[in-house]
Amino acid sequence: MATIKIHGGYRLAGTVRVDGAKNAVLPIMAASLLAETGETCIEEVPYLTDIENLADVVRSLGARAELSHNGSLKLSAERLTTTTAPYELVRKMRASFWVAGPLLARTGHFRVPLPGGCNIGERPVDQHIKGFEALGAHVAIEHGYVEGYVKDRLRGARVYLDIVSVGATINTMMAATLAEGQTLIENAAKEPEIVDLANYLNAMGAKVRGAGTDVIRIEGVKCLHGAAHTVIPDRIEAGTYMLAAAITRGDVFVEGAIYNHLSSLCAKLREAGVTVEDDISGIRVRADGPLHPIDVKTLPHPGFPTDLQAQMLALLTTIEGVSIVTETLYENRFLHVAELRRMGVDVKLEGRSAIVEGVSNLTGARVNATDLRAGAALVLAGLAANGETVVTGLEHLDRGYGDLVSKLRQLGGYIVRTDEAQPPLRLVTAN
Ligand code: EPZ
Repeated sequence: MATIKIHGGYRLAGTVRVDGAKNAVLPIMAASLLAETGETCIEEVPYLTDIENLADVVRSLGARAELSHNGSLKLSAERLTTTTAPYELVRKMRASFWVAGPLLARTGHFRVPLPGGCNIGERPVDQHIKGFEALGAHVAIEHGYVEGYVKDRLRGARVYLDIVSVGATINTMMAATLAEGQTLIENAAKEPEIVDLANYLNAMGAKVRGAGTDVIRIEGVKCLHGAAHTVIPDRIEAGTYMLAAAITRGDVFVEGAIYNHLSSLCAKLREAGVTVEDDISGIRVRADGPLHPIDVKTLPHPGFPTDLQAQMLALLTTIEGVSIVTETLYENRFLHVAELRRMGVDVKLEGRSAIVEGVSNLTGARVNATDLRAGAALVLAGLAANGETVVTGLEHLDRGYGDLVSKLRQLGGYIVRTDEAQPPLRLVTAN
């Protein structure tokens, strides 16, 4: 079994460059199914299993997907051969459900397996379905599949999302690009990845305005074409390295990190006593003075991101005093706490909050990653702990962090991966 082994106690210092954002590439890949003509070329695509999995899903629908070594991904969906996505591929990742909106808008039909819950929560898709129905689709759930159809074209409509959902905003926005007339998505999610998707859709010929605010306005067009697009830097990867700098009391420049995408993390780090300097080419994080406990609550963007909650919690376990971390997005995103306890941390769970009593010394232990961000938190804790930490469950980390081990080693971390060749990734070849 592949593991990551870490000898903790080394202070990280230097520069690390962030990759393109996984969570921006995935919806853009799904959106490329909307293009009846032309090729899409996405630049700055990281090598991650999630990207490969979604490439397999779009290929199963008849599209072409080629990922090259230099991080560019070419997609062409001129000929779609089916509107049913295979269960075996979709069950591997929830983001596969994003092919539903483009298929519905372009062909009038989709049949996509209902994504199940996962380790962090139940994660229903009712708001995605609400969006499709508001645009005139009939949607039913049968035999484990969500099936939607519309007789002619989708019709633009006013859609109010009951929950601020990244996925439902994305699916509704993509479907509305080819609807007849105007669509208004109210209570939309405002994440930078949604703005990036809107920019890509507009480059394809769509008319999307207001992305990044809670009202998105889409004027439907008749057809879309492939387009070239460079994705935004990964703010969660960037935030993870910023927290790695803080937990090791180091000094790291995170090249490519965009301050506006990470303002809540920067604010919380400063509140804890960490020095954060933003620069046009990245963010520098320095932790050389005493740090103080803080309270953190996850919220939709621009609030504190749930995808950095576990890593922030790991940092707080190393700061003496009581910190409180509250998770408002997912009902079960504290599985890392049980693993962190194996490293000597004192954390009590009370409902949706974790009460962290910081300790001066974590101790290395064998721990298991239960999801992507939980895995990152364990690696960070290992970097700060006394002795050896062995992290298993690397399939989760490989979904979202490219070159994690070599990037941390380059910063001075004592960390190795036992299967050495970084994630055993294959190139996605054309079909
Ligand atoms: C995206 O997931 C991200 N995934 C997640 O990152 C991230 O945690 C999440 O947004 C929130 O920021 C990708 O971009 C691939 P949501 P998504 O719909 O779109 C509830 C990572 O680690 N909800 O905004 O699935 C839902 O259960 C991953 O990279 C409904 O109730 O998240 C959750 O509690 C993990 N009904 C909340 O809304 C719906 O129809 C937010 O979910 C949809 C969502």
